[in-house]
Amino acid sequence: MAKILVTGGTGYIGSHTVVELLEDGMEVVIVDNLSNSEREVVNGITSITGKEPHFEEVDLRERNATYGVFEKHPDISAIIHFAAFKAVGESVEKPLEYYENNLLSLIHLLEAMKKFSVNHLVFSSSCTVYGEPDELPVTEKAPIKNAGSPYGNTKQICEDILQDTMRSIKGKGVISLRYFNPIGAHPSAKIGELPLGVPNNLVPFITQTAAGIRECLSVFGDDYNTPDGSAIRDYINVVDLAKAHVTAIRRLLNQKQKSNFEVFNLGTGRGLSVLEIIHAFEKSTGQKLNYKVVERREGDIEKVYADTAYANSELGWRAEKGIEETLQSAWKWEMNIRSKNNRT
Ligand code: NAD
Ligand code: UFG
Repeated sequence: MAKILVTGGTGYIGSHTVVELLEDGMEVVIVDNLSNSEREVVNGITSITGKEPHFEEVDLRERNATYGVFEKHPDISAIIHFAAFKAVGESVEKPLEYYENNLLSLIHLLEAMKKFSVNHLVFSSSCTVYGEPDELPVTEKAPIKNAGSPYGNTKQICEDILQDTMRSIKGKGVISLRYFNPIGAHPSAKIGELPLGVPNNLVPFITQTAAGIRECLSVFGDDYNTPDGSAIRDYINVVDLAKAHVTAIRRLLNQKQKSNFEVFNLGTGRGLSVLEIIHAFEKSTGQKLNYKVVERREGDIEKVYADTAYANSELGWRAEKGIEETLQSAWKWEMNIRSKNNRT
């Protein structure tokens, strides 16, 4: 049974991926410092799968502690590296914390891969590397644009570090997965996204507004060059996204890579506007949303959605869940955490 190290495995995308790995018959070691997640998530994962992942509370900024995980688990065959800070706005306020956390964690993992002879790594990248693309849908060959934020820049630099390292370490392989906009939650509602404070992202803001925690959703701009004037993104169900990681791990373990650094877009291929998401939420949940149009948000791009042809044909993966099912799962999760935490 392959043993997979999942950094950031109690986080939003990591926890859903751990579920899919366990259900695929793999063994999982989670490494997380709980800076943006809770230990309790491991219980949710265990309750869904009936299997308990190993959990190591370790900060990847600490090299020796990171090595300690590999000493304790000498049979790790591959790594999925989710652990990072991810808030775009916060990264502008605290750039050094973002560079330190996101770059140092990756460097320590790459050093450990060399030292402990681990050959495979899947990296969490983002469509933010494409900036405002010249052509849509955006393919993996589209040029990398100037990062709009320190966070986006860490993703670009990490991809550069990975490419350079793969040139120098023969026999190892990396797959970088560029996520579009992950949303929704596990259908069991036992795990999901846990935004701290006021959410920056659209869907958590929508569910919190419908739940009465926020008064009104602001739609950031309706004067974009899009059919209804609001901005367009490619929203992908987090369970579909998680499954792509299992496929990527299998590709690495079975040595099916075409080169030792590969990149795939993970999206649905379908662009939806903010207003379309609001209406789909209302229709699929029966909840009326209080919203108003305000100024554009600084730094936002107009539209981006994925060309998924390469991921479909070469990785053998495609997103399957529709937007209404996905928004229902986000709503079910919101209801669940609200009843648990008694938030108002
Ligand atoms: P998340 O914050 O929910 O999960 C990240 C996890 O990493 C958290 O549990 C956090 O505690 C942990 N972590 C952070 N720094 C650590 C460190 N130094 N040592 C150990 N653990 C650490 O975020 P997420 O939404 O699940 O995102 C996962 C990855 O996907 C990130 O790399 C993120 O940049 C990337 N990504 C996310 C999105 C998105 O919209 N959610 C989009 C594109 C890319
Ligand atoms: N939006 C609103 N109101 C809100 C929140 C968002 O109208 O309250 C709009 C935004 O203006 C944007 C769309 O909803 O047009 C999606 O916004 P999100 O903040 O949910 O997502 P972004 O596309 O801005 O950014 C996300 C991640 C980033 C990542 C980027 C690309 O948050 O970390 O996708 O992967 F870099």
